Amino acid sequence: MASKRTPSASRDAPDPSMVRALDLEPQGDDHAFDRTLRPRTFADYIGQAKHKENLEVFVEASKRRKEPLDHLLLCGPPGLGKTTLAHILANERGVQVHTTSGPAVEHKGALFSLLTTKLQPNDILFIDEIHRLSPAVEESLYPAMDDLIIDVVTGEGAYANSIQIPLQPFTLIGATTRTGLLTAPLFSRFGHIVRLDFYESVDLARIIARSAGILGVSIAPDAAMAIALRSRGTPRVANRLLRRIRDFAEVIGTGVIDVAIVEKASLRLDIDAAGLDDMDRRYLRVIIDHYEGGPVGVETLAAALSEPRDTIEDVYEPYLLQQGFIGRTPRGRIVTKKGYELLGLKPRAHEEEGEGPGQGRLF
Ligand SMILES: Nc1ncnc2c1ncn2[C@@H]1O[C@H](COP(=O)(O)OP(=O)(O)OP(=O)(O)O)[C@@H](O)[C@H]1O
Ligand SMILES: [Mg+2]
Repeated sequence: MASKRTPSASRDAPDPSMVRALDLEPQGDDHAFDRTLRPRTFADYIGQAKHKENLEVFVEASKRRKEPLDHLLLCGPPGLGKTTLAHILANERGVQVHTTSGPAVEHKGALFSLLTTKLQPNDILFIDEIHRLSPAVEESLYPAMDDLIIDVVTGEGAYANSIQIPLQPFTLIGATTRTGLLTAPLFSRFGHIVRLDFYESVDLARIIARSAGILGVSIAPDAAMAIALRSRGTPRVANRLLRRIRDFAEVIGTGVIDVAIVEKASLRLDIDAAGLDDMDRRYLRVIIDHYEGGPVGVETLAAALSEPRDTIEDVYEPYLLQQGFIGRTPRGRIVTKKGYELLGLKPRAHEEEGEGPGQGRLF
């Protein structure tokens, strides 16, 4: 069964029966709402305070010096605001952002045409999924990033000639859900790395309140918090849950979103109070039922769950790890005591003895 959580699958025509409320990837009506709800300025970008403050300084410094921003890498799981930040940076710096993605830049020629025909001075080239650039395209980016030149080879064999073409000053912003897959030479060329963390519930509640205001929905503050707690620390999920719960509020409630309707809707959407859905519980159950709680390798898990390895690593695991329901050991994934308890099960003996996270088993 192909999952709608896979990055590639989520771009196919959606099968409504498979759309999950907690999916981290954009789906269904997300794209349309993204345009309405996406913050355009630092002032509207809620949370991630440390990163935001640093980026505000970099933008101000680059404006004063009339230079482009330094090349920047944005890392983190889907839906945390990487694309949003790239657009805010362009907006606040007063330049255009030109968007492409690793798989879309198929050959050097495509990159050269982007760099030479599209960019005005100090503009931003935003490359999403930058870890998926082909090696040849990636290597031709290096002189562009270092010295604002591209090397074009003309002729062949003994007649081959390399011409250097100068570029306008520009900023490369790369986004990736998988920092580990970036090559060292590319990684080292970024002047600043922003690793986005899952959001605090209070920040998600503020994002939900802001979105509700834009959508014209009435929501009680404690209901915004109740949705925040079920949003996997992810603004995209928070906004989607808000819209789904608004549907329930309008059809089976009074139109106002209160805690009671959040709880009722969550039950119907199969989302528990910890913000986990059926797929998360399946993940935990497979490790517990078939592999005695682990450790089990990610490839084996992917096969058992009929999910691509990338989806397991990008989509399910980061939040389960962050919440302490699973651990990663050199020999594979384990379900922690907290993970057993979540499912109402008794932990394995060694988990009870505390041989879980923080006890030296994790790397
Ligand atoms: N800090 C924030 N404050 C308010 N809303 C936010 C914030 N970050 C993200 N959002 C909302 O979440 C949505 C998803 O964010 P975005 O598309 O930037 O995520 P992403 O990290 O680029 O995801 P992907 O890895 O899938 O490309 C945005 O459209 C926006 O509405
Ligand atoms: Mg994005």
